[in-house]
Amino acid sequence: MVNLTTVSPESARLDVASIREDFPILGQRVHGKPLVYLDNAATTQKPQVVIDRLVRYYAEENANIHRGVHALSEQATATYDAARETVRSFLNAATRQEIIFVRGTTEGINLVAQTYGRTHVGPGDEIVISEMEHHSNIVPWQILCEEKHARLRVIPITDEGELRLDAYERLLNERTRIVSIPHVSNALGTINPVAEIVRRAHQRGIPVVVDGAQAVAHMPVDVQALNCDFYAFSSHKVFGPTGAGVLYGRAALLDAMPPYQAGGDMIESVTFERTSYNELPYKFEAGTPHIAGAIGLAAAIDYVTAVGLDRIATYEQAMRAYGTEQLADVPGLRLTGTARDKAGILAFVLDGVHPHDIGTILDRAGVAVRAGHHCCQPLMSRLGVPATARASLAMYNTREEIDALVAALHYVREVFA
Ligand SMILES: Cc1ncc(COP(=O)(O)O)c(C=O)c1O
Repeated sequence: MVNLTTVSPESARLDVASIREDFPILGQRVHGKPLVYLDNAATTQKPQVVIDRLVRYYAEENANIHRGVHALSEQATATYDAARETVRSFLNAATRQEIIFVRGTTEGINLVAQTYGRTHVGPGDEIVISEMEHHSNIVPWQILCEEKHARLRVIPITDEGELRLDAYERLLNERTRIVSIPHVSNALGTINPVAEIVRRAHQRGIPVVVDGAQAVAHMPVDVQALNCDFYAFSSHKVFGPTGAGVLYGRAALLDAMPPYQAGGDMIESVTFERTSYNELPYKFEAGTPHIAGAIGLAAAIDYVTAVGLDRIATYEQAMRAYGTEQLADVPGLRLTGTARDKAGILAFVLDGVHPHDIGTILDRAGVAVRAGHHCCQPLMSRLGVPATARASLAMYNTREEIDALVAALHYVREVFA
């Protein structure tokens, strides 16, 4: 079990062996080989404390929130509210009212598109996204644009996979209503200069939505420092349960937005003639939420906070540098995404071998990577490839695991020689 006494703050080093012991799945063997889990951008593994927290909730605490006067319901409500405070502190949001529990990043972005978007975007207006988007930061805006006869504008990227800020600047104009960009690209690893992007949008009074799916497990995130207006992330990508996530929104904007879904909990009073809505954040949480998911997410946040996001970021940077160096020795391998500021995502193509074949052969060696378009088909077109293979790191990965990846890639080359 990780505790701060096993981690030296001076050296900023992680006790990775101890962290690994906290994740039961990492001890598994796959096809008779030790599991080397390098698919963390798809989803992260769960530490025992998160698993235990979910079990304890269902075994001892389960009740619906906000509805009962009985002890279990009051306790579940208090624990759910405490989870919201944990998230607020994690993101450094100003108030708890700004933290909406949703199903994940995808739902968070859809919520903004369907509420803020539908009330602020009209015919001829423009929404700015980028060439490196995940489909979940394209399609919700596309649907909105179709409905409103608005236009999607796309910030191009460089061959290295960085946003072209000069082009971004030129895209912003008096018709721009929303900018929505990823904090970290899931297919390239690029860490975008969010604060600068926000600064330029705010100069023109344009709000900025940030897709934080690939950031929160890998670096400290401070929504007030970024000064963004919305920030969405998924619990399952930060060692928490699936089906839960968070949308941060600036209170003044959330207050003025219409509700997203309608039903129980989001109302203040209902008659057949008229309904008035609940205060923030409940206005955006219709129906019974994923109570266990929010509580499990809070346990995951407590876990990464105890390890230290700064330390995690430093460690993963060292691992990324090592991985980049080692992959350079594999003949015919080309990294897709070589931005200067990059997270622990190593996506690549290998001459003459389809990424799916790479993924399948690596799997036989116990190495789990992802192969495909990574829900970024427009980005794949930009890169001129149908797909890539992607190894994505988390705090529990080791040099030895990178060595196993590289050894397996040499074997792939032999098979296809
Ligand atoms: C950058 C990015 N945005 C959004 C998503 C969607 O996340 P979720 O499926 O958890 O809603 C992902 C998931 O891979 C992602 O990597």
